[in-house]
Amino acid sequence: MDMQERKYKIKETFNNAAEGYDKPALRFFSAAAEHLADSMRFAGNEYVLDVATGTGSVALACAQRLGAGHVTAIDLSDGMLAQAKAKAQKQQLSNLDFLCMDIEASNFTADSFDAACCGFGIFFLPDMEAGFKTIAKLVKPGGAIGISSFTGALMEPLSQKFIERILVYGITMPALSWKRLDSVEKIHTLYQSAGLERLHTQTYQVGYHLAGFEEWWDILWYSGFRGLLNQLSSSDLARFRQAHQEEIELLVEAQGIWLNIEILISVGYKPV
Ligand SMILES: C[S@@+](CC[C@H](N)C(=O)[O-])C[C@H]1O[C@@H](n2cnc3c(N)ncnc32)[C@H](O)[C@@H]1O
Repeated sequence: MDMQERKYKIKETFNNAAEGYDKPALRFFSAAAEHLADSMRFAGNEYVLDVATGTGSVALACAQRLGAGHVTAIDLSDGMLAQAKAKAQKQQLSNLDFLCMDIEASNFTADSFDAACCGFGIFFLPDMEAGFKTIAKLVKPGGAIGISSFTGALMEPLSQKFIERILVYGITMPALSWKRLDSVEKIHTLYQSAGLERLHTQTYQVGYHLAGFEEWWDILWYSGFRGLLNQLSSSDLARFRQAHQEEIELLVEAQGIWLNIEILISVGYKPV
């Protein structure tokens, strides 16, 4: 798959996921956004770039902390951005703009932002190091660059059961993009490659108990996993769902089904 095809696939996946991306089952995204925005330690007057904003969780969390500042939030997916704009309007936040833009083809000038964030987006960039350097270039010397990523046991054992079952249907499993940045070592290498300093990474558990299988299905249907489900015929999809429901329901505990989500929040600074 060439670079343009890969970008088209990402855009298509997230356009499909957009309407359900903020369902309660996926509330770990907003919890993670709060941690990322807190870790940026804003003074309150910064101009901030939010890369791969999706439905705007990080942009909104930052805008709430920037009484005298501004957020410019960009994403490839117009579907995700439509949800983000609606959320900003509902929250009556006016200190942010949303632009449909590929970070690797952006026309911002160097040093134009005080800080930049990217929630669960860096690992989608075909060349992570080049993309991260591009982001660093847009931030003024001394400015913070913060990202979030997942650690290795993401959503296990649920995700493992899903993968094992989808393989039975002859679907080819692509490399999981988030695994490209699933450890402190990998993140440190990335920050160092962009010449950033004073890096600190913190781990948070943002998991919870899902009410039942329907909530797990919401996660599959409205996230990157959707691209795999879309490859099944409608009859295979119905069979898949039935069998997967049976195996997931074996994992129900008194409080529901545990969804394990450990995240890494990292912030580093551009040298002065
Ligand atoms: C998992 S979502 C994360 C959304 C949000 N930041 C959050 O934390 O909830 C990843 C987003 O990255 C966007 N994306 C992927 N590659 C991109 C690129 N090259 N430029 C801009 N956005 C991109 C996708 O469209 C998608 O909305």
